[in-house]
Amino acid sequence: MKKKILVTGGTGYIGSHTVVELINEAYETIIIDNLSNSSVDVLDNIEKITGKRPAFFQFDLTNKEELEKFFETNTGIEAIIHFAASKAVGESVEKPLLYYRNNLLSLINLIDCQLKYGVNSICFSSSCTVYGQPDTLPVTEETPRKDAESPYANTKRVNEDILCDSVNAHETLKGISLRYFNPIGAHSSALIGELPLGVPQNLVPFITQTAAGLREQIKVFGNDYNTPDGSAIRDYIHVVDLAKAHVVAIERLLTNKNKSRYEVFNLGTGKGYSVLEIVKGFEKATGVKLNYEIVGRRAGDIEKIWADTSYANRELGWKAETSLEETLLSAWNWEKKIRNII
Ligand code: UD1
Repeated sequence: MKKKILVTGGTGYIGSHTVVELINEAYETIIIDNLSNSSVDVLDNIEKITGKRPAFFQFDLTNKEELEKFFETNTGIEAIIHFAASKAVGESVEKPLLYYRNNLLSLINLIDCQLKYGVNSICFSSSCTVYGQPDTLPVTEETPRKDAESPYANTKRVNEDILCDSVNAHETLKGISLRYFNPIGAHSSALIGELPLGVPQNLVPFITQTAAGLREQIKVFGNDYNTPDGSAIRDYIHVVDLAKAHVVAIERLLTNKNKSRYEVFNLGTGKGYSVLEIVKGFEKATGVKLNYEIVGRRAGDIEKIWADTSYANRELGWKAETSLEETLLSAWNWEKKIRNII
């Protein structure tokens, strides 16, 4: 019998790539998504890639009644991967209550249902944002978390605590928080990828939209950081490598290979690249010249962060494998496909 996994936010960027990898490993997937930042067409494309169409339910996880109804009619779910969340840092500063209500209540409702309907395992989408600007680099899972710089970051931190405290209080529960560094790129089929609404806030979607002619110019936020070329450094990971780590994490929970009932892993490549290296790397990988300008720092940005991945590599037996060049090329292939650029 195939193991049934509930993927919340499964039509979103990381969620859709994870659903593909789960299906590839013969899991049965069920998606709940409110489609607030994704399209139902993603289901067609998942089906084109895998030959299987995930079951799909459209509703909001903050609606407890709907969620209970869902668990009453969908039995046999063995684990949950919880992606569904609001994720724009800037918006979270303007609308903190929206972020706290949506991100915290969704997880609380899910854990309530896990206890009520006997679903023991959950994997939570956390972020390296919980480390703030760390005092030492690279960051290990033991690096202390810092006070959150935005309501968005705070929801990741508090949700980690909600999960950890719930696991401690209920011995049937077990959970893994996966701290993502910067996911970029798209599936090699170019059938799924990142589809930001409106003007992209993140670097790589902005780059690909500029290359496609939708945006005039990229703004590089800051060249006066204490880094070799002055621009900020991040650890960019291919979204398919990231997706594969979720399959491994779920397998770990379902086969009782976890070392404690609550675990945390960093998901990155272990390598940091500056904004200017990404801009130049994109030009080199794709042959497309980018129009960019250096402007002032963006409020709330940290200077540099990259992961120590040795614990995740060793414990999960997983490693990010895709080169930066291939990753940037996959992002470009996706952008070309959705804009009909030959
Ligand atoms: C942020 C969040 C992260 C979240 C991610 C996805 C923080 C500290 N980080 O990552 O948790 O998961 O968004 O929403 O809260 N840049 C430019 N020009 C641009 C856009 C970005 O120079 O037009 C620079 C930024 O200043 C930064 C780097 O590119 O140095 C990466 O930015 P971005 O892609 O937005 O990701 P983060 O801010 O690292």
